Amino acid sequence: MGSPASDPVRAALAVLAAEASGCTRCPLAATRTTVVFGEGDPHAGMMVVGEGPGREEDLQGRPFVGRSGQLLDRLLAEEAGMSRNQVYIANVVKCRPPGNRDPEPGEIEACHSYLAGQVAQIRPRVVLTLGNFSTRTLLSTNEGITKLRGRPHPWGPDGTVVLPTFHPAAALRGGGEVLARMRADFVRAKELLSEGVQ
Ligand code: URA
Repeated sequence: MGSPASDPVRAALAVLAAEASGCTRCPLAATRTTVVFGEGDPHAGMMVVGEGPGREEDLQGRPFVGRSGQLLDRLLAEEAGMSRNQVYIANVVKCRPPGNRDPEPGEIEACHSYLAGQVAQIRPRVVLTLGNFSTRTLLSTNEGITKLRGRPHPWGPDGTVVLPTFHPAAALRGGGEVLARMRADFVRAKELLSEGVQ
């Protein structure tokens, strides 16, 4: 299960990534440097879904490689005992919103088939959503993250659960209390993963 040729999941993701790399479905195409499709283990039990690429991500073409990414890596390691290579990391929008503004509803909608395709191929047991945008998009709700976080929400027909937590940027801004809750949520994610989630 290495190369796309011998691995249908890798092959399908490569097709989607190739499609996304030339995408012009929304205005973010005009201002992006690089499409940040996502990366990690296509057979991971856990997907992590953020909001959209920031400056570093846009330059490098990789998700969560800036300050938020460093905190994500730390939480994965310290609370879930995992490295970023053991999960699959993606975003709701694959191109950077200028100045790191929030993605707009039309942009999220235009990009949705890429995220839906990633989840459909990877079929993770746990989708850890970081912040309001990924949580609201995947759970089709307007409820806020503070209310939704820390509880698994059944998602789709395959026994997948969405576990919402705060975005690392919120912990970098807000400090101790948010970070403590995120730590608990990453522990919970690991538990759900090893329970096999029914
Ligand atoms: N914030 C996100 O939501 N995604 C990234 O890839 C980086 C920062």
